Amino acid sequence: MSQKLLFSLIALTFIYQLSAQITTPTIKEEADVPSYQLPQLLISERGKEVDSPAKWERLRRPEILSYFANQVYGVVPDQLDFHEVEVLDDEPAALGGKAIRKQVNLIFKKEKKSIKMSLLIYLPKGKTKSPVFLAYNFKGNYTVNADPDILINGKKESELSEEELKKFNKNKRGGRTSRWAIDKMIEAGYGLVTIDYNNVDPDKNDFSDGIHTLFYQPGQTTPAKNEWGSLSAWAWGMSRIMDFMETEALIDHKKVILMGHSRLGKTALWTGANDQRFGIVISNNSGCGGAALSRRRFGEKLSDINTNYPHWFAKYFHYFNENESTLKVDQHMLIALMAPRPVYVASASKDAWADPRGEFLATKAASPIYRLYGKKAIEMEQFPPVNTPFHGTMGYHLRDGKHDVTDYDWEQYIKFANQHFGLN
Ligand code: GCU
Repeated sequence: MSQKLLFSLIALTFIYQLSAQITTPTIKEEADVPSYQLPQLLISERGKEVDSPAKWERLRRPEILSYFANQVYGVVPDQLDFHEVEVLDDEPAALGGKAIRKQVNLIFKKEKKSIKMSLLIYLPKGKTKSPVFLAYNFKGNYTVNADPDILINGKKESELSEEELKKFNKNKRGGRTSRWAIDKMIEAGYGLVTIDYNNVDPDKNDFSDGIHTLFYQPGQTTPAKNEWGSLSAWAWGMSRIMDFMETEALIDHKKVILMGHSRLGKTALWTGANDQRFGIVISNNSGCGGAALSRRRFGEKLSDINTNYPHWFAKYFHYFNENESTLKVDQHMLIALMAPRPVYVASASKDAWADPRGEFLATKAASPIYRLYGKKAIEMEQFPPVNTPFHGTMGYHLRDGKHDVTDYDWEQYIKFANQHFGLN
């Protein structure tokens, strides 16, 4: 190769890399939202009109699901069931005697590798079978409640390594109690199943740990372009917990409400799309790559999320940075994949980064699929005022306040679940 050619190649690569890093400024005002057209929900790739649930299920739903799998979140390359359930704790009188507490490890093995998922379960006492909320936590099971007997990644305090102890002292037992209205759930007759999402795949741009490593082909060190990023890995984890819940007599696995906040709200929606065993799916402040429309580019946009969290989505998804209009899907289609099961999207008024209005518009734009099934879809014409929830088969509320999960949110979710599961 001539020196000149080599020089041009290096220069081109440099310019390309630089341009890939340049992102447009954050849109903060509604007036700056570009005009856009959403991809059609009810017209198939080949131009066929979808006018019945059967056509949706046979034709259009699989097209949309496969596009999200291959281009957005990444496909799971194989199957793997849990190998063993290790029961660590079975306490009949937890939380002041109101609840049963169970702690179990689900162990996954392949060749010489293994991962352990440590679940914390609270169930209302005195019921033969309980509906449950299933939700990942961010910082460890011990942060969801001050209960002194919650294990730390399956271990007692005395068994922790120095590093684990440091993390434990930082996150604190009960440190996230305000986000987990466990008393309200138990009182209303619901259980809670929770696990630290880092158990499945540690949330960092590193594919040498977590569940991915159990699925690599010989010599593979990172997922292929259409293979799973971390969001798909976390979604996979939720489904494996569902496999386990199906074996648990005290859990009513037909009444599992999958709930997730923020990145874990994105995960909840993607799980619910893949796995129809979940009875209700709730997205709390999930934003970009979750319930918010990508084409609005308001707040966080694809180039932001793919730059700041390069490991969350499939590598193919990065091609849509600053190029949302070439996507064949938008997030209203992800919400539509929950149908006809109840789905709830919640936003917070001071959460501009997650584009509350974009979350509402996506939920509304998914409504035609629910109507196809004769279900009560979003009826509000306008973006609603704060704290005026809508509960049909689709639910939506805009809570007053910041990016968070509050008692107000849980009160709505419990009401919504009561309505659909026939409890009161
Ligand atoms: C960041 C990220 C969001 C994500 C959020 C969270 O703000 O940009 O996409 O939802 O973290 O998970 O808390």
